[in-house]
Formats: sequence, structure tokens, C-alpha cells
Amino acid sequence: MSTETVTVINNLTGERYELPLRQGTLGPPAVDISSLYQESGLLTYDPGFMSTASCHSSITYIDGEQGILLYRGYPIEQLAAKASFLEVAYLLIYGELPTASELADFEQVIRRHTMLNENLKSFLNGFHYDAHPMAILVGVVGSLSAFYHDSLRINDPRHREISAHRLIAKVPTIAAAAYKHSIGEPIIYPRNDLRYCANLLHMMFATPCEEYRPSLLAERALNLLLILHADHEQNASTSTVRLAASSGANPFACIAAGIASLWGPAHGGANEAVIAMLTEIGRVENIPKYIAKAKDKDDPFRLMGFGHRVYKNYDPRAKILREVCHQVLGELADTNNPLFELAMRLEEIALSDDYFIERRLYPNVDFYSGIIYQALGIPRNMFTVMFAVARTVGWVAHWLEMMSDPNNRIGRPRQIYRGPVKRDYLPISQR
Ligand code: ACO
Repeated sequence: MSTETVTVINNLTGERYELPLRQGTLGPPAVDISSLYQESGLLTYDPGFMSTASCHSSITYIDGEQGILLYRGYPIEQLAAKASFLEVAYLLIYGELPTASELADFEQVIRRHTMLNENLKSFLNGFHYDAHPMAILVGVVGSLSAFYHDSLRINDPRHREISAHRLIAKVPTIAAAAYKHSIGEPIIYPRNDLRYCANLLHMMFATPCEEYRPSLLAERALNLLLILHADHEQNASTSTVRLAASSGANPFACIAAGIASLWGPAHGGANEAVIAMLTEIGRVENIPKYIAKAKDKDDPFRLMGFGHRVYKNYDPRAKILREVCHQVLGELADTNNPLFELAMRLEEIALSDDYFIERRLYPNVDFYSGIIYQALGIPRNMFTVMFAVARTVGWVAHWLEMMSDPNNRIGRPRQIYRGPVKRDYLPISQR
């Protein structure tokens, strides 16, 4: 650890505190304030964690100013162009790219864990027919701990690994089952002869009476989308997983908490919200009206798929997806896709508007992902579910990293209390 320090001076009392600086391999240094309260009685205040590093991590690095995203040091552009999703999953979890035999073994392990306990089906069937697939996903993933309690000793590395494999393998099966339930079709079992993405498409689109052969284009596009969504350091859902895990909760409960956090429109729900917004805008002529709404402080409307807490120049994932969107729509002979045309115009108009320029608001990954999902025939209410399938790998990687850290402590933020000061209870007759 660096011996450099930062001095904090309390101007009210004149007291000075030396706080150590912590430096990672990349990125800005962090002031270590962990001893501040004990030494000074002062808390720090940072709503939304704008300036707070919550942990050490070796998984993903983001440089928001430069638009850089690295998984275990490898640029996202290289992984997106060359790797398979399970290869990236291995990288995120084990820290290194797999050799051919390591990858084959990993694929085999994941394949052998894709089936669900048959009794889970009755739990799934308890959901109302019009339940949102994300609601089903949160519930069913949380319930996995009731079915797979033979691997829940979180202090045993082998148990942790088995749970990690189970989650990566079973979440796609649950995701597809949630979709099947929402359209009233029977669940389709996984097929071990298919690759991960092809299997997911098979479980979503095959029926007992008809086989579904996913096109190579769909498989390739899904592989790319899953890679781009696999991890993104300490975002809201990953931080939720870490906070849940810090109490020693089991991994299935922690990942269910992450899925719940992902669902919101400010996070993973944005891909669904983008398509809803584009559909509502409807025509290019209406764009100025919606831009004006987005700029109006009295109007809660925001341009969905725009802005990012960390990326202030561009989102490298959006840059990749913009290109892929062109390719996918081109190969599907869908270049006149009205939503895509609308999205391109919206992007152009927003990016030349002072409001968006001043606030450095650029399209994020979800601005384009929904259009690709839609072109691949994936229904809108499944977009965030697809994101959850991908991000399960990141959540699991963070959970494993955290669980193997001997310095892990329960996460317990403090607050600035603004409620009433101490007062005495009044009997009801005197109120
Ligand atoms: N449309 C219009 N104005 C916006 C938008 C937007 N999409 N995003 C931010 N702003 C404005 C805010 O009103 C604020 O303006 P002000 O300074 O005049 O008050 C300023 O830009 C800063 O915005 P914050 O909300 O403070 O930024 P924050 O970092 O907290 O939020 C977020 C980031 C949640 C992504 C936000 O940009 C947003 O809501 N975007 C739309 C939803 C979305 O696309 N989410 C997906 C995120 S990526 C992901 O999870 C995969």
C-alpha cells in the first residue's frame, strides 16, 4: 500500500487527520477514510456513491473519461470480436483466459448443470399467467437455495464453485422458463448438444411440437450482447449482490437481490424502456417534443438509453452495438427498421443539443441492445431478463472474489439523521 496521505482539517476544531491514499493498478487513488469516524467522530456523506470506492476488485476496470472497459485487463473490443460468452465467463470468474481443455471442461460442467429440479416447475406454475418474466426470475432464483442446499457452505471454496456453476447454468433455463410461462407454453428442457447461446434460444423458442434451429446470426449476436453485459464493476446491482453477500447470505439469495436491483429503469430495465420510448415517440417529427420534455426539470421524462454514471465521453459497449445493430438489421434485410431509424435520428439530434453536450450525456449500451433483441425476435419483456442472464456471471465473479477476501466485513453505511430529536411518549388520550 502507498504511504502517501491526505490531510483533512476540521476547520471548526482545527484538528488534523492523516488519511492514507490507496492506489490500484489503474484509476484514480482513493482516500482511505475507514478510520476517520473512530479518530475524529466525523462521518462522510456521499449519496449515490459519487466519490466512493466500496472495495478492492481485480475483475473489471472502467475509465469513464476515455471510454475504456477491461475485463481482467482485456479490452472489451477484443473480447467482443473474438471470444465466446463462456470463455469470458471463465475469464471473469477464474481471472485468466482458459486453455482449450480448460474451456472444454468448463463448458461441460455448465452444460451438466442446466437442468432444474423438477419440483421447481410447480413453484414456477404458481405465478400468474401475466407475471413479468423479471418478477418470476427474482422469485425462482431466490428459491434455488431451497433446492440446492448441498452447496451452501459459503466458507468452503468447493461449495462456492459448485454454486457459481449452478447459477451460470440454471439462470438461462429459468429465464427461458419464465418466458414460456408468460406466454402459456410448456417449459422446454435444455439440450446438451447446443452451445450456451443456441441453447438459450432453443429453450425460448422451441415447442414440444416443433424444433427450433437458431440461426448463426442470432447466436452470434446474442453471444456478443451477453459478453458486453457480463460485468461492469460496482454498478447498482453488483453492489447490491456484494451488500447482501456481506452478511453471509447464500449465493442464490444474493443473486436474486442483484436481479431485483437490475430491474429498475435507471439500470437494466433501460433496454425495455428504450423501445417503449421509441414506440411512444413514433415518428421523427415528434423527436423535438420529447427532447424538450427530457430537458424540462418539471417533467420526470428522461431519454432512456442516454447518460451513464461513469462514462462521460462515450460508452464503448454502445459503440460496438451501434455497428452490430447495422450488421444485424442488414443481414435480416431489416435496414428500414423504423425504430432503428428513429433511434439514429434521436441520437443525432440529442448529441447536437447543448443540454446533452453540457451534461456529457451519450447513448449507453442499452440504447441499441433493445433494437437488436427485437430484431432477433426476443420479446420486449425479456430484454432485462437477457441482461440478467449475462450479468449473473459478473455477479458470481464478484461474489466469489468477495467471499475469498479474508478482510470481508458486513456492509453497513451510516446516515445523517434528520428526524425528530428525543421526545416523550404521550398517551393516546393526550394527543
Ligand atoms: N435524459 C435527460 N436528462 C438526463 C438524462 C437523460 N437520460 N440522464 C441524466 N440527465 C441529466 C439530469 O437531469 C441531470 O441534470 P442537472 O444537472 O441539470 O440536474 C444531469 O443530467 C446528471 O444526471 P444524474 O441523474 O445526476 O446522473 P446519474 O449519474 O445519477 O444517473 C443515469 C445516471 C441513471 C444512467 C441517468 O443518466 C439516467 O437516468 N439515464 C436514463 C436511464 C438509462 O439509460 N439507464 C441505463 C444506464 S446504463 C446501464 O445500467 C446498463
